Amino acid sequence: MPGKALLDVLQNRRPERRPVWFMRQAGRYLPEYREIRGRAGSFLELCYNPELASEVTLQPLRRFDLDAAILFADILVVPHAMGVGLRFAEGEGPVLEKVGDSARVRALRPVRASQEAEAVCRTVSLVRQALPDKVALIGFCGAPWTVASYMIEGGSSEERLQARLAAYQRPPWFVDLMDRLIEASCDYLVAQVEAGAEVLQIFDSWAGDLTGPVFDETVVEPIRLIRAELERRCGKVPVIVFARGAGSKHARVAAAVGAEAVGVEQAIELDWVLPDLPERCAIQGNLDPTALLADGGRLEALTQAVLRQAPMERHIFNLGHGVKPSTDPAALSRVMETVRQWDKGNNGQSLSVA
Ligand code: CP3
Repeated sequence: MPGKALLDVLQNRRPERRPVWFMRQAGRYLPEYREIRGRAGSFLELCYNPELASEVTLQPLRRFDLDAAILFADILVVPHAMGVGLRFAEGEGPVLEKVGDSARVRALRPVRASQEAEAVCRTVSLVRQALPDKVALIGFCGAPWTVASYMIEGGSSEERLQARLAAYQRPPWFVDLMDRLIEASCDYLVAQVEAGAEVLQIFDSWAGDLTGPVFDETVVEPIRLIRAELERRCGKVPVIVFARGAGSKHARVAAAVGAEAVGVEQAIELDWVLPDLPERCAIQGNLDPTALLADGGRLEALTQAVLRQAPMERHIFNLGHGVKPSTDPAALSRVMETVRQWDKGNNGQSLSVA
């Protein structure tokens, strides 16, 4: 019986087909999401309502023949569970209580046994129970650097100057904050695995902010520590690292962390990264989400331009970043069709069985 294509690629088996999923596959571009989100009251209430959050996780699978479900939650659940005030203001994104000195860092609580983590894990187990056999369940967290940057800035910020300065300067409170986030991320991911997550993705959306040795100590080392601790506590659960903007440093991240796959932003050609990756590491990405707004023929060509760059057995088809709210769901269907057609085609990367 064929296995789950996503797990096959992550564990170096030949998949039955090229695995496909989309970052932000559950979200505002789907009318059925907007309906449930309205019913939940707010985005955060939706995240902490296991029945509704599991429903929203499953919605895209009803429309598209996807190979993975990604837990519906947010990377900012971790600071929230640590006691940092958080709200999502309509139209302006997340607003957090700022954490930028040692008193604030000392006041952070462990994520373990928090109500927030408990609710999210309940969602994981509900989704896992409802999932078709061939679909893998992805759990996730934000990487310490990206989560720290939201905590330091108190929300979204164009340049993240305070956060980047803290990383370059590295005062004791910043080191402590990163240590607390490493520990919290481990506990949170272990709990997700125990609840039924089969793959973990670590989102470092702002990895591209840092350079040189500060990139290594602030982006790479915390993710390496999380991965090592995860392995100690729950064995080899496949990990996808999405260090967005890492550019020329993706291969370094992959090797240092021992990731089963690296996600790559759309600015980087997959076939430029692939030869430098460790042999057992797959690549995920990287169609530009803006291409989904283009007309059908152009979208198809842009999708094929990604497919051409990576063989099925080492590739997880995805976007270079999340689906944009203005996307027509039909565009995702079109992309899926293009991927399936490509793998059936006579391009030498197709199925060998008749
Ligand atoms: O479908 C999925 O991908 C799973 C759920 C998921 C969400 N956020 C739901 C969400 C995941 C994996 C995330 C990760 C996340 N959250 C990241 C890393 C990926 C990336 O986008 O770079 C980051 C940086 C966040 C923080 C965050 N959450 C911001 C800055 C915002 C506001 C901007 C925006 O897109 O609205 C969010 C809100 C958010 N997270 C929404 C969703 C569906 C929109 C909420 C709504 O319904 O209004």
